[in-house]
Amino acid sequence: MKSETEAVEMYSKWSLEVITTERDIGTEQLFKKVVMEEEKHFEIFETEFLNLQKFGQQGTEKG
Ligand SMILES: [Fe+2]
Repeated sequence: MKSETEAVEMYSKWSLEVITTERDIGTEQLFKKVVMEEEKHFEIFETEFLNLQKFGQQGTEKG
């Protein structure tokens, strides 16, 4: 989950940089899409982690 959080922070920073320094809207939107995907990944891992804590291996999707 840490790598997902780091990815969100990194792409968010790049998104802001590219729009403020380059005025590159296309690249900014690309970075925003990546951020949203990474946020989804984080939510999936968080849910799996909580399910693992709560139900053990049988509580996960692949259980
Ligand atoms: Fe990811």
